[in-house]
Amino acid sequence: MKKIQISPSILSADFSQLGNEIKRLEDAGADMIHVDVMDGHFVPNLTIGPPVIKTLRKNSKLTFDVHLMIAPVHKYIKDFADAGADIITIHPEATDNLKESINHIKSFKKKVGVSLNPDTNVSIIERELENVDLVLVMSVHPGFGGQKFIPNVIEKIKILKKIKDEKNYSYDIEVDGGINFSNSKEVVNAGANILVSGTTIFRENNGDIKKNIETLKEV
Ligand code: DX5
Ligand code: ZN
Repeated sequence: MKKIQISPSILSADFSQLGNEIKRLEDAGADMIHVDVMDGHFVPNLTIGPPVIKTLRKNSKLTFDVHLMIAPVHKYIKDFADAGADIITIHPEATDNLKESINHIKSFKKKVGVSLNPDTNVSIIERELENVDLVLVMSVHPGFGGQKFIPNVIEKIKILKKIKDEKNYSYDIEVDGGINFSNSKEVVNAGANILVSGTTIFRENNGDIKKNIETLKEV
């Protein structure tokens, strides 16, 4: 069985109880916490920012897998690094200079991810693949939880896995959006090793998050 990590998205959590929700996820076996940051500009939704992450940081030792759906992103990287993000993932369309933004994230000793929207080709980040720790493949158009998985991203996962194997790169392949019990196996078999999930983890099996995390891991 492949070693799969689960990164629950707190976008689907009870925002009035975020500290407790993160504790619940940690106790339920989450490998990291996926924090969706949205600015109402890069995506048509607004969520949380550095002050909330800073407060949550005190509640958990888990890796904070921070997904920045904000633009322009470069000038905010320091704020998220200082707030306690462990992995900072940005969208190439949100920066004027991807290489510079990647290096800026690394300057804070944080892991760096780049995210590909469903319509964005691997080619636009290919040159940076040797420098990143994670590629976040969006399997929905970013902005909301509870959307339907877009099956044609499977091909993109396979391409990323092929490049990783051929060039002996070390990036994780994380897939984000519409992940459920019926598509998780196919996503992992295509090459993903980290699954993000919000709706499936918080809503399935009457909200039994431990069972849902375990079920997603059983691929
Ligand atoms: C969407 C976010 C995803 C989303 C996942 O823009 O990046 O992380 O919250 O939620 P589900 O699993 O409900 O699709
Ligand atoms: Zn996300």
